[in-house]
Amino acid sequence: MSKKRNVLEEEEKRKLTGENLGKLYGIYHYIIPYRVQFFTGLLFLLLSSAVLLTFPYMVGKLVDVASGKTWIINEISSIALILVIICVAQSVISFFRVLLFTRVSEMAMADVRKDLYQKLMTLPITFYDSRRTGELMSRMTSDVTMLKDTMSITLAEFVRQIATLVIGIIFIFYSTPELSIFMLATLPAVIIITMIFGKFIRKLSKITQDELAASNVVVEETMQSIQTVKAFTSEVFEMARYGSSLKKVVIAAMKGATYRAGFISFLIFGMFGTMVAVMWYGATLVQSGGLTVGGLMSFVIYTTFIGGSIAGMGDLFGQIQRAIGATERIMELRGEKAEDIGPGGAEPFPDVASISYKDLHFSYPTRSDVEVLKGLNLDINPGQKVALVGQSGAGKSTIIQLLMRFYNPTSGEIIIGDHTVSDINLNALRRNIGIVPQEVILFGGSIKENIRYGNFDANDEEIEEATRKANALDFINTFPEGMETLVGERGVKLSGGQRQRIAIARAILKDPKILILDEATSSLDSESEYLVQQALDVLMKGRTTIIIAHRLATIRKVDKIFVLNQGEVVESGTHDELSLLNEGAYNNLVKLQMMEPVESGL
Ligand SMILES: Nc1ncnc2c1ncn2[C@@H]1O[C@H](COP(=O)(O)OP(=O)(O)OP(=O)(O)O)[C@@H](O)[C@H]1O
Ligand SMILES: [Mg+2]
Repeated sequence: MSKKRNVLEEEEKRKLTGENLGKLYGIYHYIIPYRVQFFTGLLFLLLSSAVLLTFPYMVGKLVDVASGKTWIINEISSIALILVIICVAQSVISFFRVLLFTRVSEMAMADVRKDLYQKLMTLPITFYDSRRTGELMSRMTSDVTMLKDTMSITLAEFVRQIATLVIGIIFIFYSTPELSIFMLATLPAVIIITMIFGKFIRKLSKITQDELAASNVVVEETMQSIQTVKAFTSEVFEMARYGSSLKKVVIAAMKGATYRAGFISFLIFGMFGTMVAVMWYGATLVQSGGLTVGGLMSFVIYTTFIGGSIAGMGDLFGQIQRAIGATERIMELRGEKAEDIGPGGAEPFPDVASISYKDLHFSYPTRSDVEVLKGLNLDINPGQKVALVGQSGAGKSTIIQLLMRFYNPTSGEIIIGDHTVSDINLNALRRNIGIVPQEVILFGGSIKENIRYGNFDANDEEIEEATRKANALDFINTFPEGMETLVGERGVKLSGGQRQRIAIARAILKDPKILILDEATSSLDSESEYLVQQALDVLMKGRTTIIIAHRLATIRKVDKIFVLNQGEVVESGTHDELSLLNEGAYNNLVKLQMMEPVESGL
């Protein structure tokens, strides 16, 4: 949270220099396709501001003509008609201006979002290891929304107010110089106080925002782990925590409100005070014949316009500063380096592939001081079924992640067939590896959609066949909606074992050349496991397969077992070979499991 406050403070300090405004230009790139509409909108905007500014002038003339003065047009109703025309023109132009700007900004921002999403999809896993989902979501949502508002509303306001200010001041100076100088003399004091106050109030409102964000963290945390909250019966505790957090929000908001109320009453006093002074001076001018009543009236309306734009300017500057911040963050994300896909239409993936790891060293980029794999060597022949066993944290899943090239090794290489993994086209590589992961997370859609994820071209029969082979059809048929059953967010409406079978069906449907089972049957009961195991045995035929298993009983039949310890292979061989090594690592693991009556399942 304190980080957030720092970011906001930095934004506050961000000066509107050419360089910073140049950053906004980065977004202009997205407007180029819609530039005709954009500039038409801008033209309409200038036009409507200009039309609006003739309004006070005409009102003044109306009053003057009414009080007997002569002008080009001497009919009150004609002048009134012109005023009506001005109003209509103003409304029509504004309608199209709003429409055009909204269209441009919506379309441009959809492009920005599409671009960002595409970027997010192509970024490597290492990028995600160091970011938080919430942070990325706010790039996609609030930052882009802020830019959209800046483009459609802020920009329009800015142009309008600058135009009002410049044209208005020129006009009053031209028509009533004496009164203008008098008025301007009173202004600096008001402006300076407004600026100081405004900054202070913005700071206070940021504190309120921070407190609110902190209280939202409480809600978010507890929603995400509601089961933990309930299991520990800490509902009351959490409510108190949220309550005290909200109290802080109210206190901060009230402090801000006190100053804001003071500021507003000062403004009202200042505005009316100035108005009274101007009216007084204006009235003396009218009395001495230096000014007409209509002239005084248009002057007063012009000054309200001008005053309004000066007052709005501070907010607009703040908005533009925040928009620069948002642009910067969006551009930073756009500039991130995408995953290297490697050669284009590289050679065909070997039908039955050998896999070897040669002296592989690896540490996760987010924890670079801990070496997870320390000179790992593995050789898997084409079509072989091998198992990786070892303690939790030994590096088994890491070996697989490197094979999928989610990460790149620090040194050493992985060779599939005749090619090192880094020379194989990334899409080809991943398309040919089927994985049933340790933790199955599903998409929120239906069971069928989730299985189809293995192969989007599969038809209904193929999906059903894969489901049957994965021993999942029986449980799916017990659901009233069958294959169309929605699995809930991340698949929470299914049990662990059910999710696992869906992942197996997915892998069967994918029909990969290399199959990886990371604890694939760990959440199944003995009976389902037996059935699924049979399906997997069929699936493994003719494919190079890597099985990771804690329960050693399930891997007795594999061609080769690699025993890992702290990132190194300490033993390898068949079950029978390894069983003969009396004090061997494998035997030790087997013995340990024999001592766990529940876990052994033997
Ligand atoms: N994304 C990551 N970032 C940093 N360190 C990680 C990451 N994933 C795993 N590790 C670390 O790497 C080591 C090996 O983890 P790995 O997941 O390969 O173990 P494992 O053998 O699969 O264990 P288990 O049997 O519990 O699944 C562990 O010490 C773990 O803390
Ligand atoms: Mg693991």
